[in-house]
Amino acid sequence: MLPKVVLYVCGCALLIPTAIAANSTYTNPIFPGFFPDPSCIFVPERDDTFFCASSSFEAFPGIPIHASKDLVNWKLISNVLNRPDQLPDLAITNKSTSGIWASTIRYHQGTFFIMTTLVFDDADQFNSSRWDNMVFQSKDPFKSSSWSDPVHFDFVGYDTSPYWSDNGTVYVAGSHPWHVAPGITMTTINLTTGEAGSDLRFIWNGTGGLAPEGPHIYSKDGWYYLMIAEGGTGLTHMETIARSKTIDGPYTPNSANPIVTNANTSQYFQTVGHADLFQDPAGSWWGVSLATRSGPNFTTYPMGRETVMFPVTWKTGDWPILQLVRGQMSGWQMPPPNITIAGEGPFTDTADHLTFPPKSSLPIHLVHWRIPINGSYTVSPSGHPNTLRLSPSKLNLTGYDGNYAGSQGQTFVGRRQTDSLFTYAVNMEFSPQAQGDEAGISVFLTQNHHVDLGIVLLPNSTSSASPKPLVPYFRFAATSYLAVPPPILVPIHSSFPNYTTLSDPTATTLNLYLEVKANNLTHYAFSAGPVDAMSDVINIGYAPAADVSFGFTGTILGVYATTNGRNVNATAPGTPAYISDWKYTPQGQFLD
Ligand SMILES: *[C@@H]1O[C@H](CO)[C@@H](O)[C@H](O)[C@H]1NC(C)=O
Ligand SMILES: *[C@@H]1O[C@H](CO)[C@@H](O)[C@H](O)[C@H]1NC(C)=O
Ligand SMILES: *[C@@H]1O[C@H](CO)[C@@H](O)[C@H](O)[C@H]1NC(C)=O
Ligand SMILES: *[C@@H]1O[C@H](CO)[C@@H](O)[C@H](O)[C@H]1NC(C)=O
Ligand SMILES: *[C@@H]1O[C@H](CO)[C@@H](O)[C@H](O)[C@H]1NC(C)=O
Ligand SMILES: *[C@@H]1O[C@H](CO)[C@@H](O)[C@H](O)[C@H]1NC(C)=O
Ligand SMILES: *[C@@H]1O[C@H](CO)[C@@H](O)[C@H](O)[C@H]1NC(C)=O
Ligand SMILES: *[C@@H]1O[C@H](CO)[C@@H](O)[C@H](O)[C@H]1NC(C)=O
Ligand SMILES: *[C@@H]1O[C@H](CO)[C@@H](O)[C@H](O)[C@H]1NC(C)=O
Ligand SMILES: *[C@@H]1O[C@H](CO)[C@@H](O)[C@H](O)[C@H]1NC(C)=O
Ligand SMILES: *[C@@H]1O[C@H](CO)[C@@H](O)[C@H](O)[C@H]1NC(C)=O
Ligand SMILES: *[C@@H]1O[C@H](CO)[C@@H](O)[C@H](O)[C@H]1NC(C)=O
Repeated sequence: MLPKVVLYVCGCALLIPTAIAANSTYTNPIFPGFFPDPSCIFVPERDDTFFCASSSFEAFPGIPIHASKDLVNWKLISNVLNRPDQLPDLAITNKSTSGIWASTIRYHQGTFFIMTTLVFDDADQFNSSRWDNMVFQSKDPFKSSSWSDPVHFDFVGYDTSPYWSDNGTVYVAGSHPWHVAPGITMTTINLTTGEAGSDLRFIWNGTGGLAPEGPHIYSKDGWYYLMIAEGGTGLTHMETIARSKTIDGPYTPNSANPIVTNANTSQYFQTVGHADLFQDPAGSWWGVSLATRSGPNFTTYPMGRETVMFPVTWKTGDWPILQLVRGQMSGWQMPPPNITIAGEGPFTDTADHLTFPPKSSLPIHLVHWRIPINGSYTVSPSGHPNTLRLSPSKLNLTGYDGNYAGSQGQTFVGRRQTDSLFTYAVNMEFSPQAQGDEAGISVFLTQNHHVDLGIVLLPNSTSSASPKPLVPYFRFAATSYLAVPPPILVPIHSSFPNYTTLSDPTATTLNLYLEVKANNLTHYAFSAGPVDAMSDVINIGYAPAADVSFGFTGTILGVYATTNGRNVNATAPGTPAYISDWKYTPQGQFLD
């Protein structure tokens, strides 16, 4: 609403809008949690809706699409990568820094396009086969099933982004491998066939920062603007821009570069860069970028690289001016609140209470690490209504050497941590049968960074019998590149001596409540207890959030099941775990 000013002229009262509309306030991040490398558009032809895409690395389903009508309420509407056969190679990527990198979303003549790169093993980083570039299309991005299979195209590099010129020629700009020759290259492309031009050329090498990447081309007032990220995606990250009268260049850098960064500041939001620009229905400009809530200390940032938004002032013929990123923001008046929006997933700030009712499928905000093994996740299996059955994988969450999993996969499903403070809890029914059988909850960042509270069947270490009888333990254990708390083993039956079913040594079915909470900014607390006996919940272990602060991804809170290395197959499928009453409760955001 425009504020009205009452003027008295000749004794008549006139209502006229003031020249300056009231500005809006909002908070960052707009998508808290593991949503890096944002790309956003505004599409007037689709009911004045904003659409954004994020990177997803090894997460599957991948390339989440959020939509909003008001820039404040954002809903997960679909996942571009939602069928294993769209991209089977995601299953064989190695390391947490591989997988789906920066996706660009664009809309052209009724079709939505996602251009992205699947990145393979780091060991092969000098080889052009490391990069698999591709384009997905949809005419109805509110449905995951609407996203096409990808059309692959040859491009040595990553972070590819399309630009349509008025005469129909489509250009693709991307980042040349920084280890080889850093710079932004461009060629033409046929988006139907994926045939890229042979005229790949450097159009701008940036201002000298590490890894010039994430390019986007915009045209405005007779100029082509080329906006890129530089400095690497850590503390020296920044956004720079250059412009040219012709799309081929030469591009002249802005003397005001970098146009946005929080490098060399004491801000809580760091690593600001990798931006995209778009307009709202009133014509005001906005930008999105990634940022990390770490402070300059860069020690504790488990949610990794998140999506932030900032107002942009872009006057005719001038360079765009990007507002600095903070937790509390104010800027252009936003469209009025409107949460009437189609799509399959929840709004970004929604709590979870999942009960896995019969005939339902997993909600679309749940993810696996790489492509899930068919049949390992069953909602309401017969005899266990309102549960999710996890069939164990041979591999545990670390997998082979922490970097790959191969065709074995890993049984894990989770949701992103989206709040500084939260409680995540599930009930689990589990009857471990063989040594090493394990199921539990995890704060998972990568195969080399996770904190787990599991129930595991192990020999009773204090027994003098031979062989030592197998007994179920709570096992709390963390894996990280940093120092981790020592593992804790607690015999389950002796933990709850007055709980009859659990203290019966012949009872093999454990019905337990498992919980992790961020009880403050720096630590997670893991607890467990009998189901339906909250007063008996005991604290088992604490882990620093710094142990899961690393790299390109953000923490995922979920459940896992494994045999810890024993083969599983159709005749010996291992012991399933049944998950119910999955709850995620947001309890606060730190903004500075
Ligand atoms: C909210 O958005 C829906 C869908 O685009 C539209 O039909 C409706 O009119 C909007 N409501 C308001 C109050 O603007
Ligand atoms: C992943 O790592 C494994 C083990 O080192 C190797 O066999 C495989 O070829 C690697 N995959 C790719 C795509 O590089
Ligand atoms: C299309 O337009 C671009 C500029 O946007 C120009 O460089 C190119 O030569 C044009 N191509 C054709 C076939 O006209
Ligand atoms: C792209 O390739 C298809 C198939 O060869 C062709 O029909 C189409 O005209 C091409 N598009 C452009 C813009 O050249
Ligand atoms: C950018 O760097 C590449 C590779 O080092 C070089 O070939 C090219 O001339 C440079 N381009 C510009 C515009 O400086
Ligand atoms: C910065 O991190 C170090 C550990 O790397 C820690 O000892 C120190 O207390 C931290 N300082 C602040 C201000 O958080
Ligand atoms: C409203 O926001 C814009 C964009 O941030 C800014 O340029 C302008 O100064 C603000 N206006 C007022 C009255 O604060
Ligand atoms: C392990 O064995 C010791 C010695 O026999 C016994 O006291 C203890 O209860 C056993 N622990 C469990 C969890 O059964
Ligand atoms: C177990 O004992 C504790 C401590 O005496 C008590 O608070 C709790 O209610 C008991 N739980 C059950 C299930 O009896
Ligand atoms: C956070 O929680 C952990 C575990 O309870 C505790 O050791 C640490 O002192 C707490 N930190 C602060 C700042 O309260
Ligand atoms: C995880 O599995 C590997 C074999 O795949 C095994 O070597 C390792 O001991 C397991 N970790 C635990 C904690 O059992
Ligand atoms: C299935 O795995 C078990 C070990 O868990 C093994 O003993 C058995 O031979 C395997 N069966 C087949 C058909 O591979």
